[in-house]
Amino acid sequence: MNIKNLKLKNNLVLAPMVAINDQAFRVLCKKYDCGLVFTEMINANAIFKTNKATLKKLSFVKEEKPIAVQLFGANTKMIEFAAKEAEKAGADIIDFNFGCPDIKIIKQGAGAALLKRPTKIGEIIEAIVKTVNIPVTAKIRIGITKPDLGLKIAKIVEKAGASAIIVHARTAKQGYSGKADWNKIKEIKENVKIPVIGNGDVFSGKDAYEILEKTKCDGIMLGRAAMTNPAIFKEINYYLKNKKENKISNKEKLNLFFEYLELTKKYDCFDFVNAKRHALNFMRGMPNIVKLRTKVSLTKNIEDMKKEIKEFQKDL
Ligand SMILES: Cc1cc2nc3c(=O)[nH]c(=O)nc-3n(C[C@H](O)[C@H](O)[C@H](O)COP(=O)(O)O)c2cc1C
Repeated sequence: MNIKNLKLKNNLVLAPMVAINDQAFRVLCKKYDCGLVFTEMINANAIFKTNKATLKKLSFVKEEKPIAVQLFGANTKMIEFAAKEAEKAGADIIDFNFGCPDIKIIKQGAGAALLKRPTKIGEIIEAIVKTVNIPVTAKIRIGITKPDLGLKIAKIVEKAGASAIIVHARTAKQGYSGKADWNKIKEIKENVKIPVIGNGDVFSGKDAYEILEKTKCDGIMLGRAAMTNPAIFKEINYYLKNKKENKISNKEKLNLFFEYLELTKKYDCFDFVNAKRHALNFMRGMPNIVKLRTKVSLTKNIEDMKKEIKEFQKDL
């Protein structure tokens, strides 16, 4: 898949995820065949106000590139400034969030609140496109309470100069419940010329194959499936080539956690809370995991956490 002049090695994309997509995690997904990684959504106002913690999020290494920086906000001037800063910091794409349903974001008039303001959506995309020289993309939901806005918004962002659109095929009201409506992705794909990246409920190679077949979308974005198994990208690429699943074992999945820890050392971004979150996520869905989950939840240092996981792995 190409996004404007940016050629990706494949069409699988890591979704932006708050508190998940730290640098080590992004590199790990890249290592396991992800074609394009996203940062978590970053507050444009905070970049404008040179908030130190936020500026730290604009730090990238070559092993994770190409990388899309996702911004959120509602003030066009601040968004322009933030986009320029992200470009200077080495972003390959600026993506803008038109879908976050979190009440704190909605209250700022940002995220999914913008779905109500089509003119503003066009204005924001146009402003970013004018400001940066890298491709600009938009991530949308398909409506607020009803799935009736996807196509309209897609046409607006295309007209405003976006180089691709990512469609999370749920309404803002749905949050993460109900099924993603892939028909809406198909409808958008049939009516715009820019690449369409389908998102929502892809958890396996078979799902990936089906969403591509059903919607003819150009790329697929994965959130929760990658959060619980960063090797999903490799599994999907295998399925798309060979039409059969080749899933990693649970032992290997737990090894991904140790790989993650090595990467946090390499890139100097270790954080105990993040590490624990990833460990618990990677364990999701494994049989007989309750005891280990409880033990890991209660650990107070990384050495104890590693010991518990290694002990469990012995019996796998
Ligand atoms: C923990 C978590 C954090 C998320 N943070 C963001 C975010 O920062 N920006 C965004 O556009 N979407 C965010 N999302 C939504 C995902 O990017 C994605 O659209 C959604 O999970 C649907 O894809 P999936 O079915 O593959 O999980 C988040 C989702 C999760 C689970």
